[in-house]
Amino acid sequence: MLDYDKEAECYDASRGGEARAETAAHTVLGLIPPGPGRLLDVACGTGIVTRRLAAARPGLRVTGADLTPAMLHRAAARLPGAVVRADSRRLPFPDGAFDAVTTIWLLHLLDDPEDLRAVVAECARVLRPGGIYVTTVDKAAAHNVGSDIDAVLADRPRRAAPDATATVVAEAARHGLRPAGQGSFRSPGQGRSPRRTIADLRRGWFTQLPPGEPRTEEFAARLAALPDQERPRADPVFRVRAFRKPAPASP
Ligand SMILES: C[S@@+](CC[C@H](N)C(=O)[O-])C[C@H]1O[C@@H](n2cnc3c(N)ncnc32)[C@H](O)[C@@H]1O
Repeated sequence: MLDYDKEAECYDASRGGEARAETAAHTVLGLIPPGPGRLLDVACGTGIVTRRLAAARPGLRVTGADLTPAMLHRAAARLPGAVVRADSRRLPFPDGAFDAVTTIWLLHLLDDPEDLRAVVAECARVLRPGGIYVTTVDKAAAHNVGSDIDAVLADRPRRAAPDATATVVAEAARHGLRPAGQGSFRSPGQGRSPRRTIADLRRGWFTQLPPGEPRTEEFAARLAALPDQERPRADPVFRVRAFRKPAPASP
């Protein structure tokens, strides 16, 4: 996993900024029934999306939780008094405390299947019966837009995606969560250019291609041979899934 204490400073600008936050929040809220309630945004990062969730639905009391101090520091400036430092594998909230729980761009980071299990279990636990869990899935695949860059990267070594839809659906089911909808959001301006992809390669973005290794430099050289080095290719489109925690049947 990237060191998010180091990422914090450049995080918003390098992850699509407010334009991405707006499309993400819009899609996530579209999967959460209207009305007042409490929402927990797990792994809220800098709060760039969390703030929009709160602003778009004044009836929602939104809390952000994240493990990384530098990310959380920024979130606290956006959502004063509404963020807590917490590990998503052990959430410091009672059972059933929230009407909605979100994990936006978290599950793809969880290489250890036990971590994925623990996070989904905790999200299910803190959700009230009848509540909704919304999460991004298949994050890495969002960048495959059929471009010449994708063609170069197609045969790179890669790890299995921890947030593959089938895995997340199965894990949600283990914890009693049932599919309740899906959506997607575009991240305007986050399309890759060859130059930016080379920079990402060299800073360890592609986890199976460590910076400085000959194989990494081979990919960098192939990317450097593409035309239009500065031109971003198509914007990535990120997928989102929603799950409901069933309410007990009435007597
Ligand atoms: C890619 S960022 C996503 C941030 C935010 N949700 C967004 O969409 O901008 C991933 C975040 O997950 C946080 N994170 C990673 N592991 C975590 C854990 N076990 N518990 C809580 N937060 C975690 C990182 O600190 C980072 O802020």
